Amino acid sequence: MDLDLCGKRAVITGGSRGIGKSIAIVLATEGVEIAICGRNKDSLDQASADILNETGKSILTVVADTTDTASVESFISAAADHLGGIDILVNNAAAPGGLVMGPLNTADPDELLADIDTKVVGYMRVAKAAEPFLKEGGWGRIINIGGLAARSGGAISGMRNLALSHFTKTLSNELGPQGVNVNIIHPGATRTERTDPMNQAQAKEKNVSIKEVEEAASAGIDIRRIVESEEVAFLAAFLASPKASAITGESIAAGGGAGSAVFQ
Ligand SMILES: NC(=O)c1ccc[n+]([C@@H]2O[C@H](COP(=O)([O-])OP(=O)(O)OC[C@H]3O[C@@H](n4cnc5c(N)ncnc54)[C@H](OP(=O)(O)O)[C@@H]3O)[C@@H](O)[C@H]2O)c1
Repeated sequence: MDLDLCGKRAVITGGSRGIGKSIAIVLATEGVEIAICGRNKDSLDQASADILNETGKSILTVVADTTDTASVESFISAAADHLGGIDILVNNAAAPGGLVMGPLNTADPDELLADIDTKVVGYMRVAKAAEPFLKEGGWGRIINIGGLAARSGGAISGMRNLALSHFTKTLSNELGPQGVNVNIIHPGATRTERTDPMNQAQAKEKNVSIKEVEEAASAGIDIRRIVESEEVAFLAAFLASPKASAITGESIAAGGGAGSAVFQ
């Protein structure tokens, strides 16, 4: 199926590694013009070189911090200038898992505020700056990258993903009539550059093999393996495409069937 994405213009926050970088690669392969941001210039330069190498496409990289409104506005303005407009926004920049993972007696309110500032308010800052461009041609897409913690308890920082599901439906209600579809993808445990070093450290700590660590991490996942970041990117590319015209306001998991809860 041709996704009809060729020539569309996308901005991706946190595109220098992990899921954001995979989304940039898949969209670039589909012929999308791309701008990414992150806080570290060296990582952005490396991502740009990797994407050029893998897809043959040059992308725009901008150093920007999504916790800073002025920084977000200058990223979006530079992207719109460079690309000649914006059709697709992928809100992705955040620390996976969040900062507040432990029990209440060790939970730090300032860390929770930092998590929410990055992932919830940060996504809002970027959507607000990009909105005029997305509405301009009467067609646009916003894809928020949440996380399956939205659907089960476990870590206090998980609440940011639930907040984003609400944000997604609210923006869909507002922007749908103007041709902008808004959806959220909830990844579960997803393989990125961080996974192997994390598994190695855990294996060492527990004195088990890396294979055993991976098997334990996959036990509650229906497909019995953690998902590759590219697999999340394929869903993002479909939702970004004109082919997903009937889908908006939805929360869609890409977690390989993690957990046992049923959603209507
Ligand atoms: N990986 C998983 O298993 C998993 C599971 C569920 C949900 N998710 C969600 O998926 C998204 C991506 O996760 P990931 O695993 O790909 O993370 P990652 O590998 O750590 O990459 C995060 C990206 O975001 C950028 N970033 C972080 N904070 C930023 C900020 N304030 N301003 C601008 N850029 C920022 C990082 O670059 P700099 O550090 O240079 O800024 C990097 O490019 C996150 O929203 C995460 O919560 C991931």
